[in-house]
Amino acid sequence: MLSKKTVVLGVTGSIAAYKAVDLASKLTQEGATVEVAMTPAATEFVSPLTFRAITGRPVVTDMFDSDVEFSIEHVALAERADVVVVAPATADIIARMAAGMADDTVCCTVLATKAPVIVAPAMHAGMYQNAVTQDNIRRLKARGFHIAGPAHGRLASGGVGPGRFVEVEELLAAIRQVLGKSVGLAGRAVLVTAGGTQEPIDPVRFVGNHSSGKMGYAIAEAARDRGATVTLVAAPNSLPDPAGVKVVRVGRAVEMREAVLKAAVGKDALTMAAAVADYQPKVVSESKMKKGAMSLNLELVRTPDILAEVKGIPIKVGFAAESENLLVNARAKLKQKDLDLIVANDITLPGSGFGSDNDRVSLIDRRGKVEDLPLMSKREVAEKVLDRVETFLKQMRTPSRKRIG
Ligand code: C5P
Repeated sequence: MLSKKTVVLGVTGSIAAYKAVDLASKLTQEGATVEVAMTPAATEFVSPLTFRAITGRPVVTDMFDSDVEFSIEHVALAERADVVVVAPATADIIARMAAGMADDTVCCTVLATKAPVIVAPAMHAGMYQNAVTQDNIRRLKARGFHIAGPAHGRLASGGVGPGRFVEVEELLAAIRQVLGKSVGLAGRAVLVTAGGTQEPIDPVRFVGNHSSGKMGYAIAEAARDRGATVTLVAAPNSLPDPAGVKVVRVGRAVEMREAVLKAAVGKDALTMAAAVADYQPKVVSESKMKKGAMSLNLELVRTPDILAEVKGIPIKVGFAAESENLLVNARAKLKQKDLDLIVANDITLPGSGFGSDNDRVSLIDRRGKVEDLPLMSKREVAEKVLDRVETFLKQMRTPSRKRIG
């Protein structure tokens, strides 16, 4: 797994920096090329020479150092990385990464890289538990960073609490897992929908819903980061187009149907996170409707069920946002739309659902097996969904799997 991989190890100024030496050594023994970047504070704890001896590579400590081969091009490490591991990560570097700063080699590399980033926090428990640090970690998670640890235990500052650097073996496992993931959908084509459709009443008004598009966008970005070619059919939302994703913007459910049926050809998986209106006005007024009588009846007719209509795509994932009887309703949809997986979301839970950056969902598969996930960022939910998509795609290669539709 690690041979021929380049791991950029960003070491920052924590007493746990000495453990990063062990990590660098184990990574090197497993065949990885380990490029170490250190903040000035880290060099107070461990000498760059130690890392140089362990990795056999020059160590970058200063963006303007002319000794190392790639110092002029300060983003060279970022481009070379298959994974960037910031370990140990102090509260300070976490704050600077969350803010998008680039004032030392470590956060500069993190800002410039397209590779996945793993952050292993190590600090005093009070600093870790401080709301600002927690908020910064949440921001990093929401952007797709992987957070390893910290562990709970004895701290160098005295006392016991959360903030201990994660065990090196655990961090190695996280690195292997992320490297495996980063190519898990390579060569695959994934179609994702997002946002809430708008069904016009007249040129000014529409029937719509509260979907922000965040869940679908998180899935599109996560699939892209796993190497897939991604097409995103997006109903109206205020999010910018994700880089490296083909975006098709649509308005109404019937437009989404057309775009999805067209884009579905040749795709390996469809993940339908869009909130598609179930009804549309029967008649759309060509001019703005005037105020008149005290009441107005709007006749609505059903929209096409896109997900049920798409056939021949190997994997289909749907979403069910429900306010009651969550599992019963979700199971019924899974069957009716012939899905491999449905992501069931109780929209009455606080801090979860529409517009939120987080979600608490349950995953239900064809066999009816339910996995209840805790409250997590939408990006983390996206990773869980894609883990399943990857497994389904792998199983399809084995003859025992029977496909319907
Ligand atoms: O609206 P409903 O709760 O049935 O949505 C469940 C799933 O079906 C979602 O994944 C949604 O994107 C999809 N859907 C669809 N076409 C519709 C309505 C919903 O594809 N007309």
